[in-house]
Amino acid sequence: MTSEYSRRKILRSGGLMAASALGFAATRPAMAAWLEATTRQPAGPFYHPMEPLSVDNDLLYHQDPESRADGEVIYIRGRLLDQTGKPIKDARIEIWQANAYGRYNQPRHANSNLPLDPNFFGFGHTLTGPEGHYRFRSIKPAPYPDSSEWLRPPHIHFAVIPEGGSPWSTQMYFAGEALNKRDFLLGNLPSDAARERVIVDFQTTENAPDARAKLGELDIVLGMPGVTRDKA
Ligand SMILES: [Fe+2]
Repeated sequence: MTSEYSRRKILRSGGLMAASALGFAATRPAMAAWLEATTRQPAGPFYHPMEPLSVDNDLLYHQDPESRADGEVIYIRGRLLDQTGKPIKDARIEIWQANAYGRYNQPRHANSNLPLDPNFFGFGHTLTGPEGHYRFRSIKPAPYPDSSEWLRPPHIHFAVIPEGGSPWSTQMYFAGEALNKRDFLLGNLPSDAARERVIVDFQTTENAPDARAKLGELDIVLGMPGVTRDKA
């Protein structure tokens, strides 16, 4: 799944570059790139009820700049695009997640026996840049039980709020997790291709800002209701 996902991603990027370099998007709409939309997924019960004043795109540190959150450091980056491949700038992207023990810093998760991490707030936000880029630093969340029979795989919730638009949410998963195959929400997506678009292969790479941390890339393609691909 991983290699297939990477291959498709590379092909997709290549297609975008080719269309852009040749100016097809402006002069020949029928030849413009058309990306499959990322599937919307529920925001779930643990969206943070109140945004603190200090929140940013670095979830590794909370109030104490000397004390980092527990867990494996990850970098997440990607682009926000529409289905023609056009970047969506100035959109607010929020993420929220469980900590390294599987606990959300959210009153609704207070019935969990899993520990809180005082150095992990579990919520961050950023704005997309001119080319739709965004990035976060965080830690890999642990699985957590959603019920006595359902253990959710590690995942990170995303909300996208385009300028003047409505909030939209999805969830990102980690490649290679055995629990992915048994997750009700991930299994509920309409196709393997839709699942591949939200499963990210985190790798240690020289492109990561920190050589010891893993980097994962998630491009988010917002669907365009009422707009269909031009087949002419
Ligand atoms: Fe969750």
